Amino acid sequence: SPHFKNIRQMLKERLPSEVYELLRKVGEVATEKGINAYVIGGFVRDLIIGRKNLDVDIVVEGDATELARAFAKKIMGKVHIFDKFKTATVTLSDGFKIDFASARTEIYRAPGALPEVDTAPLKKDLFRRDFTINTLAVKLNGREFGKLIDFFNGLKDIKEKKIRVLHALSFVEDPTRILRALRFAVRYRFNIGKHTEKLLKIAVRKNLFRTVEGKRVYLELKHIFEEDNPLRIVNRMEEYGILKAFSPRFIWNRKKRDFFERIRKIVNWHKLTFNKHKANYSILYFAAFLESLPADEVDRLLKDFSVPDDEANLIKNLIYRGRQLAVKLERESFSNSELYEILKREKEEMVLYVAARTTKEDLKHRLLEYLKEWRDLKLVITGNDLKEMGLKPGPLFKKILTELKHRVLDGKVDNEYDALEEEVKKILKKKKLEPV
Ligand code: CTP
Repeated sequence: SPHFKNIRQMLKERLPSEVYELLRKVGEVATEKGINAYVIGGFVRDLIIGRKNLDVDIVVEGDATELARAFAKKIMGKVHIFDKFKTATVTLSDGFKIDFASARTEIYRAPGALPEVDTAPLKKDLFRRDFTINTLAVKLNGREFGKLIDFFNGLKDIKEKKIRVLHALSFVEDPTRILRALRFAVRYRFNIGKHTEKLLKIAVRKNLFRTVEGKRVYLELKHIFEEDNPLRIVNRMEEYGILKAFSPRFIWNRKKRDFFERIRKIVNWHKLTFNKHKANYSILYFAAFLESLPADEVDRLLKDFSVPDDEANLIKNLIYRGRQLAVKLERESFSNSELYEILKREKEEMVLYVAARTTKEDLKHRLLEYLKEWRDLKLVITGNDLKEMGLKPGPLFKKILTELKHRVLDGKVDNEYDALEEEVKKILKKKKLEPV
């Protein structure tokens, strides 16, 4: 029998008040409509564990699109309906999103194929999920608001820090769950249950990854590389023989692990330094992941994983051009302005990759300094100053300003205006033009 408990107080204490109020409203509208609504899955798991997660997934016993429409109307949000799966997303005016789905069971036609959808109650919906920790639901309707519904001992497993599947075919139905198990185990520092581990090993041994669309495996790998510590997850993948299942030529050694660790440091630095504009961090790990493979094997994996062309090209660029760039920068010593010219057309990810790739601390520091300071260096002097000196706008402007920027970068300028005058004189002399 399911385990009931009310966690209304926990919801109130741990959620931002706006989110709490939104859940109350979903419950109100559901009650008005006479349908049961629950918030489920990762949101509930993370609420109990105490990890921030505002991905609100609502499951409805009945037509989710009907509830979503009524809720959107009540809060004056926008609703987007996906008829095929009877799901909907409501977007608030501030951009906050809530997903609605109709309780459903998935009938797997073949391992790895897309599921068929059929309407069925909550318990069946939860039973089709990956791990017990993801099967918790909280009822939202009126007086029952906050009732924790735990059909499969999810709460106990959270307390015991265990990743457990719900049934023996879980990894067969969806082998990407093998990767999810490791990801959750590392993220929460949970252990994989004994029986679950046995099933996982069998699934790896049978190389069930072959039965999954490569695209789905790639998405799961990306999720891994978006975690705080991908290194520890890949270590686990190696332990279970998953890397060799991807490619027998996979190498996971000390060098690779150190590379991953350096990427992690660079990514953390970047997140702290630039909280506004983010880079594609997972791609750095993905490139490092593939780096030691022969080129034809890299191509095969990118193709098997159906990596979109733009991403595949960026990955290959990071691997091959990144290698060349690192070698060049390590070998010769460049002035700041030379380094600036080498890097200015490179993507953020390329600079980060080379900074992580090199073991030369001083080079790494200069690359990060480039991103932080030099790249966006603004001169005090602008084109207007040049006009005021009587120069005509044209290609010469750019030349003068670039030269000036170089001198500033190389620390050769005390006062930009003095430097400008010298620069202009020099250039005009060279061009044998009239002095201004
Ligand atoms: N799920 C599953 N099998 C998968 C992927 C997902 O059973 N291969 C289920 C899980 O129960 C999960 C839900 O679908 O709770 C939503 O999955 P996801 O969007 O990946 O969210 P989270 O579990 O919250 O994971 P994360 O915290 O990484 O977002």
